[in-house]
Amino acid sequence: MNNNITVNKHIRWHKPTVTRERRHKKNKHQSFILWFTGLSGAGKSTLAHRVEEILFEDIDCNTFVLDGDNVRHGLCADLGFSLDDRHENIRRIGEMSKLFMQAGVITLTAFISPFRKDRDIVRSMVEEGEFIEIYCNTPLSVCEERDVKGLYQKARNGTVREFTGISSPYEEPLKPEIVVQTGERSLDECAFQVIDYLKQHSKI
Ligand code: ADX
Repeated sequence: MNNNITVNKHIRWHKPTVTRERRHKKNKHQSFILWFTGLSGAGKSTLAHRVEEILFEDIDCNTFVLDGDNVRHGLCADLGFSLDDRHENIRRIGEMSKLFMQAGVITLTAFISPFRKDRDIVRSMVEEGEFIEIYCNTPLSVCEERDVKGLYQKARNGTVREFTGISSPYEEPLKPEIVVQTGERSLDECAFQVIDYLKQHSKI
């Protein structure tokens, strides 16, 4: 698919006069990417939205959540769940997150993003410290027990194919910045674990 994209030689980069630094100064905060990864049903979206709520409401930050199911309604509506499509999904989200970040926004993403290589590509697209990987470490058994969307059952009986954790792999992050035990801890405990990390690292 898009593994070997080369940019047309007649395309030039236009440098903005409103720089990211000026945006940071105006917003009174830095921008970066909070990348939530984990199985379907691990609580990525719920946690991302709770962290966003705290950043937006209590700390007065500019924020936006890019959410797997939502993005697949539009930007990635043409993609399925094959290895190539998942790779392309994460490539697009990575580029999109970078644009949001460059716009001065604290960008939270909630995608399964099952492959280490794809997540690491996004990490390498931005400066060190700008990609904060948050592993929502909920065991498969718990996600399957919850089965909020009924998809695990469909994956088990073969109606849904290539389902992460059942018939398609999930590669755990090796060195995520944050691991949240979304299956054991309350939503707010997990959210404040993220907020505390950001404070400790002078991000907010
Ligand atoms: S990713 O693998 O490409 O990162 P993404 O986060 O965008 O996946 O979408 C995952 C969501 O799509 C799941 O939460 C689930 O609701 C839905 N879904 C439908 N089919 C599948 C499948 N085969 N594997 C995983 N998720 C699926």
